[in-house]
Order: sequence, then structure tokens, then C-alpha cells
Amino acid sequence: MSNTDALIKNLVEKHGNSRNSLMPILQGVVREERSLTEDAMLKVAEALDISAAEVYGTASFYTFLDTIPRGKNVIRICKTITCHMKGKDEIIEALEKELNINVGETTSDKQFTLLTANCLGWCHKGPVMLINDEIYPDLTVEKALEIIQEYAHNTK
Ligand code: FES
Repeated sequence: MSNTDALIKNLVEKHGNSRNSLMPILQGVVREERSLTEDAMLKVAEALDISAAEVYGTASFYTFLDTIPRGKNVIRICKTITCHMKGKDEIIEALEKELNINVGETTSDKQFTLLTANCLGWCHKGPVMLINDEIYPDLTVEKALEIIQEYAHNTK
């Protein structure tokens, strides 16, 4: 049995094998493996007796369930309407330039992955970004770049 098989088996034992367990199981896989591979998604579909399409649909709907390998620090910039109106595009452009990657990519040194996310619940203080599980509200381009520098120098 592969590690992924054993992991999914444990998660199904923990959460049950009903359709409602899909999210917690996918989250569990991402937490352990830091990515969600096609193979893992097929295995989850089989374990819950649902279609692979349903698993793919859920995984791609929730930005938090990354289907790509991630860097040490995962940056998620809110792309929802309020943050959009408050200038999230400028922040994204500045970070893409600084890190030399596009949204959805990981830096070659595997330090940063840049993603967007749906509303993070901090609309009153937009634009916001989440780095790992730390929220950074009221961003400006300067502030966002400073924060990234701190992570790059490992002071966080
Ligand atoms: Fe960005 Fe809600 S719209 S946090």
C-alpha cells in the first residue's frame, strides 16, 4: 500500500465515507502531502464511491485545495470584489515582479508560491493577503514588498 493509499484510508476512517467527508479528506491530503495529485483525487473518488469529476470540481472550486506542489511560504491574495476594488491587481503585479513568478507558480528556490483566494473575510481592511496562516490587511504595494522581504530573510 502506498503512502497516499494509507493516508486516504486513515482519513476515510476518521471522517467517514459519505459525500460530506470529501472536503475534510481533501484538506487532510493537502496538509500531509502539500499537494493534491491526480492520483490522490482518483483514490478519494474511489474511496467515497463518487465520480472523479466531482472530486476535481470540488478541488478546483476551493482555491485552498492546491493541486500544485507548494513552496515553503504560500501567499494568497484575495481576489474578491472588495479587495479587487481596493487595488489587489497592483499588489499582485508587484509580487509577481518581485518574486519573478506568475500567480499559480512557485519560485525556483521553493521559498514562495503565489496564489489568489476567494474572500478571506477581511473585506473592511482590504486589500489583504494571507501568508501561510497569517493575515496581512490594509496592504499597499510597499507594505506587501516589505512583508515578503521579511519572509525571504526568514525573520517570520
Ligand atoms: Fe477580500 Fe473579502 S473581498 S477579504
